[in-house]
Amino acid sequence: MKITIIGTGYVGLVSGAVFADWGHDVVCLDVNQDKIDKIKEGIMPIYEEGLEELVKRIQKEGRFVATTDYELAMKHGELIFICVGTPSNQSGAADLTYVFDVAKNIGELLPENQYRVIITKSTVPVGTNHKVKETILKNSEGRKLDFDICSNPEFLREGTSIFDANNTDRVVIGTETDKAFEKMKELYNHLETTILQTSIQSAELIKYASNAFLATKISFINEISQICERVGADVKEVAQGMGLDNRIGGKFLNAGIGYGGSCFPKDVEALYRTSSEKMYDFRLLRGVIDANERQKHYFMEKVWNKYGSNLDGYVFGVLGSAFKNGTDDTRKSVALEVIKMLRGAGAKIKLADPAALENSKRDLGTIGMEYCEEFNDVFDKSDAVFILTEWSEFANINYEKMASKLKSKVIFDGKNLLNPKVLTDLGYEYHSIGRSSYL
Ligand code: UDX
Repeated sequence: MKITIIGTGYVGLVSGAVFADWGHDVVCLDVNQDKIDKIKEGIMPIYEEGLEELVKRIQKEGRFVATTDYELAMKHGELIFICVGTPSNQSGAADLTYVFDVAKNIGELLPENQYRVIITKSTVPVGTNHKVKETILKNSEGRKLDFDICSNPEFLREGTSIFDANNTDRVVIGTETDKAFEKMKELYNHLETTILQTSIQSAELIKYASNAFLATKISFINEISQICERVGADVKEVAQGMGLDNRIGGKFLNAGIGYGGSCFPKDVEALYRTSSEKMYDFRLLRGVIDANERQKHYFMEKVWNKYGSNLDGYVFGVLGSAFKNGTDDTRKSVALEVIKMLRGAGAKIKLADPAALENSKRDLGTIGMEYCEEFNDVFDKSDAVFILTEWSEFANINYEKMASKLKSKVIFDGKNLLNPKVLTDLGYEYHSIGRSSYL
């Protein structure tokens, strides 16, 4: 099939690359010339396992063209995917400027009398696809366009998105016509998964409801971790026991410093905004947001309790600044917020991260910061080590060997990554979340 992707961010680039890998003929458009030039050279704007190799290969095989040429992109695709960003605006609602800019361009440039499906993959509030349709028609200036709209939300996780695209739990296709649904089904039919046909509105809401539900699971277990600390239970054991119930499931029950990233915070806020706009007070969601905000402060209380609120003169090693493992992304990273709180109270920070050092330098600058290429260097004469991202690499560090490098053997594990018994047996003072017998 001939496919056009508009927007070469996470969703756009990964989806375009994967579709080309499936054998389709893909044109990927972005208005940013620099980004497109780099993609052509095989330099990816984001770090994602396997993406660079894949994009290089499909470009060589001639099935993937990166361009800034809108006319070419509009002529090319029988399926046109809108994958541009929808950041939060100041009120917490999704900013749809980019989506409607694209819709306007589609209206102006779509060839006449050639059937097209215009698909929104960006996460957009309910009703947006219909507004996209109106915008396209408004800008078509009486030309005879033949198209349907479609909502096909994306459930990719950063870090594993190529795997996820090939092994998705479901494909959701919201359309107004069977013709559009059948076209879309053709694209995904080879996947061994459920293809769910829904209305446009339901598809739009499925994405928000899914992310909000996962965020609720995380906030729930984080709240449980607070109870664990107060009653002497261990949140890892509690989560394991809960997760064995198939109706609950064990995933997204890792307590920590709270969820971050480019999706959960933004999407949960946006769903709350939508519900308020529709005169519904979604109180549960408000609690989810509050609990997530509070969680990093509970973690910081452990630090204040040990050192007081003035951290002048302390040096802390920090493992992890990415919002989660497997990515260089630091957007809405709780790790960054914790680092800022430590630094703001006077501490010097030595930071290591397997992928996110460059982005961290951009976000945190140089004052009070030392960036370490080697994990081991964060232990050098530090007063404590903080684990703030769940990279498995950090679990594999030889903490026995590292102990002698530290000024004092103290660990604050904000992701419950390490085994408390092993660490305390090694003589560490080990702080974690919701495991009361270990501080
Ligand atoms: C999420 C959704 O999972 C994905 O389906 C959607 O398309 C985009 O948003 P992503 O943002 O890549 O994906 O990360 P995810 O793995 O969901 O983690 C989000 C945040 O929650 C991270 O900060 C992570 O550290 C945190 N998290 C996750 C927990 O604190 N505990 C958990 O048990 C799981």
